[in-house]
Amino acid sequence: MAFTEPVATPLALLLLGHGADPDSERGVECPGDLPPVSDPDLVTRAAAAKAALGDRLYILGHHYQRDEVIQFADVTGDSFKLSQQAAAHPEAEFIVFCGVHFMAESADILTAANQQVILPDLAAGCSMADMAAIHQVDAAWQAISAAGLADSTIPITYMNSAADIKAFTGRNHGAICTSSNAKRSLEWAFEHGERVFFLPDQHLGRNTAVRDLGLSLDDCVVWDPHHPTLTPEQLRDAKVILWRGHCSVHGRFTESSVKDVRARVPGVTVIVHPECRYEVVEMADLVGSTEFIITAIEEAPPGSSFAVGTELNLVRRLALRHPDKTVVFLDRDVCFCSTMNRIDLPHLVWTLENLLQGRVVNQITVEDESAKWARVALDRMLALPGVGAKD
Ligand code: 13P
Ligand code: SF4
Repeated sequence: MAFTEPVATPLALLLLGHGADPDSERGVECPGDLPPVSDPDLVTRAAAAKAALGDRLYILGHHYQRDEVIQFADVTGDSFKLSQQAAAHPEAEFIVFCGVHFMAESADILTAANQQVILPDLAAGCSMADMAAIHQVDAAWQAISAAGLADSTIPITYMNSAADIKAFTGRNHGAICTSSNAKRSLEWAFEHGERVFFLPDQHLGRNTAVRDLGLSLDDCVVWDPHHPTLTPEQLRDAKVILWRGHCSVHGRFTESSVKDVRARVPGVTVIVHPECRYEVVEMADLVGSTEFIITAIEEAPPGSSFAVGTELNLVRRLALRHPDKTVVFLDRDVCFCSTMNRIDLPHLVWTLENLLQGRVVNQITVEDESAKWARVALDRMLALPGVGAKD
């Protein structure tokens, strides 16, 4: 089954210096004076500011962050684990989230009112999350409702989404999922309805529905927000209505990436993230979340070889951490997640030194009504059996 790149939404990534959207903070530049990247004292300055802030500060680092930032993280993890870790540290006034915007929003929703969540660079968005704007999702839900299907359709929304999409999910009896509990979330949804409205990552939705739940590719239809052409009959006959969104990093791995690496590295185990395309996942040996990939490589015997289909910062770190194993990147051309990479040492130093001087910069807050309903959807996920802090 062929995958074609969706047309970019007008809301998708705004290039820096090419306009800004203050509502979503995309394209917004740093409001202060950043230290120069060439400053040889950046590491010392970050360490000094962190030490001076002590327990008032807790730094979260997503696995896809640069090493220069990860060295200052109090905890590393996937988006879900990090949000939970933030909530587990109520003594910290300042949660500095080295990750992307939707993660900082989730942390704000899950933490206490007195805790302030900070994203060191407001331009660190996520192209996948930006592929589903709330007015587009509302329009799709109206079509589903007009077909008489709203009562029998359960929304399941991937963690990688804006807070207002999570709130939509909570209001409409749905739940959030992560890459490690998508199967459990879809099973839950089918216990409560006849079909699932899965957003915003079509690949995670399709991979889970077909590979884990045994549905057929024909049971899945794709809702394209730019060309909403699905008929009421097509919506009714579908088991899963997939939103036409994808990760611009994982979506780039292809079948040739897998064929090439198998030819280059004999006996290699191909391990990929479920945000990869269905054809790629079908060709892989192992599929799972970032935490799954890390554990699989850690637990493999010395001498094992892995080709990893996920973000490059993590793959490079895994290769360095396991010199007794061969760990290569699945594709020669796929690059870093550009928005994850926005968070660098100058932004971290700027953030911490401002906090030290009593100025909270780049605080991420989700307004109360959205936070309330997004929390409902998150809590439904957390209540699923087997879904814990390190699901
Ligand atoms: P996880 O953090 O849930 O592994 O998701 C991968 C990802 O793409 C994060 O942006
Ligand atoms: Fe978004 Fe993909 Fe980057 Fe994750 S890796 S932040 S899903 S663009």
